[in-house]
Amino acid sequence: MKIGFIGGGVMAEAIMKGILDVSLVKPENLFVSDLDSQRLEYLNKTLNVFGVESNIEVVNKSDIVILAIKPQNIKEVMIELKGNSILDKTFLSIVAGVKTEILQEGLGVDSIIRVMPNTPAQIKKGMTVWTSSKSVPSVTLSFSKKILGVLGEELYVEDEDLIDMSTALSGSGPAYMFLFMDALINAGINIGMSKEMSVKLVRQTLLGSIELAIGSEFEPTKLKEMVTSPGGTTEAALAKLEEGGFSDLVSEAVCSAFERAKFLGGKK
Ligand SMILES: NC(=O)c1ccc[n+]([C@@H]2O[C@H](COP(=O)([O-])OP(=O)(O)OC[C@H]3O[C@@H](n4cnc5c(N)ncnc54)[C@H](OP(=O)(O)O)[C@@H]3O)[C@@H](O)[C@H]2O)c1
Repeated sequence: MKIGFIGGGVMAEAIMKGILDVSLVKPENLFVSDLDSQRLEYLNKTLNVFGVESNIEVVNKSDIVILAIKPQNIKEVMIELKGNSILDKTFLSIVAGVKTEILQEGLGVDSIIRVMPNTPAQIKKGMTVWTSSKSVPSVTLSFSKKILGVLGEELYVEDEDLIDMSTALSGSGPAYMFLFMDALINAGINIGMSKEMSVKLVRQTLLGSIELAIGSEFEPTKLKEMVTSPGGTTEAALAKLEEGGFSDLVSEAVCSAFERAKFLGGKK
């Protein structure tokens, strides 16, 4: 299979690297276009992939075209591509908030795969949720599963509404974790620790806790109970967090992201 990328940004680079690392596709069968010629030079130098300045050329050379541009650029790209003998191509879009129906209409193409990755994909620890239109050929579907598998975990869903939900949970999720991490680091500094020491403690605590939770037979609630002794330090901290509505606030935050994803997805 020949794979093309429209947009050679951070996510496109992560996918290209992953594909090449497992030799899923040879570099000569990867094509990328980007408005930024320096970016193309960089990708050519580091990954040996073929950079072209024309989006149409990328589409013509590829069986699967990965749309890896920002949402604000999708309209201009669809207008540019529509009508250019692209009917036999499959478009795999990682563009946040753009529904399959809008891509089908905008490109005039039936075969669409819609994907929601997240940034840990850059280190192959991503969570990618994806769906497809009925007209994607089965061979393309199974090849796309392999492409997405190089980013970490992948999960296929039938119901496209789950993509908006995933956007709110796993797509935006790394930012929630970074916010919590930052708050913990500042808390360490506030009680008198050096920044260097606080960063070290917080990083290893989060890493260890996540690995413990993943490897454990217990749910996070149980693991939390196991480190909380009555009248102890953890109990005091957790009580303060819940007094401030921590769990409800997290739930409301994810709801806001979900509402925003639905709103953006409905825009033409
Ligand atoms: N990063 C994430 O966490 C994440 C997670 C899930 C989904 N996504 C989605 O993934 C997509 C890509 O994100 P990213 O972070 O990789 O973005 P990015 O780094 O900004 O990459 C987009 C690239 O596309 C280029 N571009 C813009 N208009 C173009 C056009 N008309 N033709 C060809 N190339 C064009 C941009 O060039 P210029 O810089 O010169 O404009 C830029 O190099 C977005 O839609 C985002 O919603 C991202």
